[in-house]
Order: sequence, then C-alpha cells, then structure tokens
Amino acid sequence: MSLFITFEGGEGGGKSVQAKALYRRLSQLAIPALLTHEPGGTPFGKKLGRWLKWVKETDISPLTELMLFNASRAQLVAEIIQPNLKGGKVVISDRYADSTTAYQGYGRGLDLEMVKATNNAATQGLKPALTVLLDIPVEKGLARIKGREKDRFEQEALAFHQRVREGYLKLAGDEPERWLIVDASQSKEKISQIIWQRVSQLLSRG
Ligand code: TMP
Repeated sequence: MSLFITFEGGEGGGKSVQAKALYRRLSQLAIPALLTHEPGGTPFGKKLGRWLKWVKETDISPLTELMLFNASRAQLVAEIIQPNLKGGKVVISDRYADSTTAYQGYGRGLDLEMVKATNNAATQGLKPALTVLLDIPVEKGLARIKGREKDRFEQEALAFHQRVREGYLKLAGDEPERWLIVDASQSKEKISQIIWQRVSQLLSRG
C-alpha cells in the first residue's frame, strides 16, 4: 500500500533516527518501503544539499535558499518519491517541503505565500499523509548536537531556531489531521512506539 510519511523538526530532535527506525520496522514486516532525505536523496540533491549546508566562501540569500532547496525537492519528487508511491511503497522522507516553510519562511522571514507557491511548484502538489514533528525546546535540541561541526543552519542564533520551532508548531496546529507532534525529549523507544501506533493505524485503513 502506498503511503507518504515525512519527518520534520529543528536541530537535535532525533528525526533521522526515528525515520530510520520506522523504515527498519516496515522492512522487518516485509512492507515495501523506501527511505529518503532532504536535502539530498538524488545525486543532484546531494550536491546541492552539501553546498547549501557547508558553503563558506559566499553568502546565500534567503530567496536563493528557497529556490535551491526546491530545486533539489523537484528532482527528488519526480525521480524518487512519485515513482515509488506509484509502485505501492511506503515512502518516508527525512524532511520535505515543511522544512522550507519553517526555515526559509518562519526562520529567514520570507513571505509565506511565496514559499507556499514555490513549494507547491516543486512538489507538484504532493503532500504527505502523515508528518511527524519531533518537537524539542531549542536550547535542549542544540545542546544535543554540541561538540560536532556545525553547518550554516546549526550556527544560526537562538532566535532563528526559536522562529523555526514556532513555525513548525503553527503549521502543525493549522493541519492537525496531517501532523503528529511528538515530544522529542522522551526516550527513543517511547517515541518509536508513538509513531508506530499512528503509522499502523494508517496502514490498517488501507
Ligand atoms: P539535516 O540534514 O541535519 O536535516 O540538515 C539539513 C539542514 O538544512 C537543516 O538545518 C535544515 C535545513 N533545511 C532548510 O533550511 N530548508 C529546507 O527546505 C531543508 C530540506 C532543509
């Protein structure tokens, strides 16, 4: 059965760990699944993503970020997500269009209507059936990634990360049927259990 699930959240919320755990669980149950991530997921997206996260020698404007994340996304949707959904798989994406709304819209302050229109063009209107938000207070999330080399986003001020978090919570509040907000300060096992409960419900509905 095809199902599109995305994982979202600020830094240090553990969404990649949970996306992988869900993928493993589905695979163990022999449910055809695919795990991808943004920025990346295609050879083109990987190059763009690495550059967007790590470039040091030039400034990148918020509008350029919006366009480039969506360029990567357009390729991922066309090359990977849509064909695999058509093939009947559960497609899990570690970040998707809501990341752009949270980071470039709420974080960078770009016009939200413009962000929405650009996201829609890149995704061809494809929306997830379920979006899991791993929500954690900003200071706690950033403390978890302390000590590792920080990319352009992780280096941003606390206020930026606060806007990103508030943006996610606003998005989730506007569309509660699509979003599952999970308190990311709980144990990994507990979080996996909460997510699995919702995913198995969706799967059993067929
Ligand atoms: P990650 O690979 O650790 O999730 O890092 C990706 C970074 O890129 C993260 O800080 C969020 C940022 N990002 C955006 O700003 N906009 C986007 O559309 C996406 C997909 C990611």
